[in-house]
Amino acid sequence: MDTMMTSFDLSEKKALIVGGASGLGKAIAHALAGAGAQTMIADLNGPEAKKVSEEIEAGGAKALHFQCDVTRHGEVAALVEDAVARMGRIDILVESAGLTITGTPMIDFTEEQWDRIMDVNLKGMFFVNQLVARQMMRQRHGRIINIASMSSVIINQNSYGSSGVYCVSKAGVLNLTKAFASDLAPFGVTVNAISPGYMRTPLSAPFWEDPVGSAEKCSRIPMGRPGEPGELAGIVVYLASDLSTYTTGANILVDGGYTIW
Ligand SMILES: NC(=O)c1ccc[n+]([C@@H]2O[C@H](COP(=O)([O-])OP(=O)(O)OC[C@H]3O[C@@H](n4cnc5c(N)ncnc54)[C@H](O)[C@@H]3O)[C@@H](O)[C@H]2O)c1
Repeated sequence: MDTMMTSFDLSEKKALIVGGASGLGKAIAHALAGAGAQTMIADLNGPEAKKVSEEIEAGGAKALHFQCDVTRHGEVAALVEDAVARMGRIDILVESAGLTITGTPMIDFTEEQWDRIMDVNLKGMFFVNQLVARQMMRQRHGRIINIASMSSVIINQNSYGSSGVYCVSKAGVLNLTKAFASDLAPFGVTVNAISPGYMRTPLSAPFWEDPVGSAEKCSRIPMGRPGEPGELAGIVVYLASDLSTYTTGANILVDGGYTIW
């Protein structure tokens, strides 16, 4: 292996993937394991997290699984403690837990809907970053990768209504990422965001099942199609690796060109 490829090698690295039971988090967990990392899959859905860890172990890599609700500070603290007790350290964090509510214009959004989105997408993101960051500061090394969305920089418009509050939560993720990047830079910890465009996952399944909605969406994407979860693998492995030592506070769009237009 040449030096460049060796630098992408994540052997000996311990990676915690929160929201790793489904969709993008699951694909990212497989990508990190494929690059040699030992993985810890955490999710609200414990049985699915277990399945993903079993799939990874079937491929010959070490994997653990945890049940955790990111909206509960105590559960996140217990997750980090448990993860460190069992793996020794956390070199890489990917925070992918998230949800959306579409089709409700800003003017009709309820307090309950606002809280649901903000609790998971922003408050949960904060708890996970903060508690893992404390461990990474002690290690004086770490890579934090937050899954934002292209909705952090645009407002999605669909024939069946916007998802404005989701966009607000994802815009928050960007400045949360920058604020942690600023505070953690002296400790050898980088913090970056990946902003996917429309990806084919269980979260977005309703869009793709509707032929009219899906054609409408594809017509707005220069590449003319949704992304597949595995298409985040390269950027995740780069951000997790020793080739990204000077990249922090960045937001990397992976959207098939959606935000060009
Ligand atoms: N799919 C897309 O098109 C797309 C595009 C841009 C950004 N994203 C973002 O990517 C992330 C992953 O989305 P996905 O498409 O893989 O969705 P998904 O629904 O397939 O996976 C999300 C995972 O988060 C978990 N989760 C939800 N609430 C949780 C909580 N309180 N505590 C712990 N885990 C919780 C779910 O159980 C699920 O396993 C989200 O933040 C989403 O906003 C998705």
